[in-house]
Amino acid sequence: MAIKAEGVTRATEARRKEQAQYWVYLDGEFKRYGDARLGLMTHALHYGTGVFEGIRGYWSPEHEQLFLLKLREHYRRMQNSVKVLKLKIPINLDELASTTIELIRRNNFRQDVYIRPLAFKSSEEIGVRLHNLKDSFAIYVTPFGNYVDIERGIRCMVSSWRRVDDNAAPARAKITGIYVNSALAKTEAQENGFDEAIMLTHEGHVCEGSAENIFVIRDGKVFTPPTSDNILEGLTRLAMIELLRTELDLDVVERSIDRSELYVADEIFLCGTGAQISPVVDVDRRLIGDGQVGPVVERLQKLYFEIVRGRSAKYKSWLTPVY
Ligand SMILES: Cc1ncc(COP(=O)(O)O)c(C=O)c1O
Repeated sequence: MAIKAEGVTRATEARRKEQAQYWVYLDGEFKRYGDARLGLMTHALHYGTGVFEGIRGYWSPEHEQLFLLKLREHYRRMQNSVKVLKLKIPINLDELASTTIELIRRNNFRQDVYIRPLAFKSSEEIGVRLHNLKDSFAIYVTPFGNYVDIERGIRCMVSSWRRVDDNAAPARAKITGIYVNSALAKTEAQENGFDEAIMLTHEGHVCEGSAENIFVIRDGKVFTPPTSDNILEGLTRLAMIELLRTELDLDVVERSIDRSELYVADEIFLCGTGAQISPVVDVDRRLIGDGQVGPVVERLQKLYFEIVRGRSAKYKSWLTPVY
């Protein structure tokens, strides 16, 4: 036990040292992660007054290229998120894209990466509000693999935590503070032996996972909650709708979904930048279909990974090359 703990500490220390050397972008400057310091009183740390994005870069060995997936779309969503929190990002869409590319080039990452832009209230003072505060903007990039299991399928529970309501904290904006809602649900699910949580809205409709949108397939039709059901307006969700309609020739209906529709579905999957396309094989200890990864999800996964690794000429516009 002691030997294992020592090994874990050494690995963590090695990772910390490596991370300290990464280049990051903070308030107009490129710095080493270890030199980018924030004060203990930073507003966003106390009150959750920040918005962020999560963007993936996929390394393609055959192209020797790193492809950023839906880069501009992510920054466009961020430009909407900042409006909600009265934040300002000091650079425009083109500059956001070019700064991200420059940051990755500086780090010379030649593997899959995850990009985390963050706009936040950085005044070091006490007082809950959005106005009359200093804004900061940062971008951090790190090597990244799979966030949840995408091969064997995951087991989910319907969370006892309801999704935040638009009139309390709008999920449409990717606000740091809102992720307490996701964290409560995810930990509850994992401590109960499940892989992921599915949250319901206050009205009791199926909403989304802790960091993923949800799709339900039944009798050859595909259903996903509408954006007015308190979901994050996911970019992978939009990509899935496009692929399901265009490539799989399936009807996709955006409508509210009842909890028990999950139990009788033929297939369910979660999707998001981090989770990618994650088949759900069990909800609340009820097998979905026959409990195996279904044919629609299998095809979608195959298509998606061909596209993100730059093997599809048709969907090249989804990708921005770094090198
Ligand atoms: C709560 C929530 N829903 C859905 C998603 C999926 O969004 P996207 O596909 O844009 O990553 C995320 C991912 O970041 C999320 O945090």
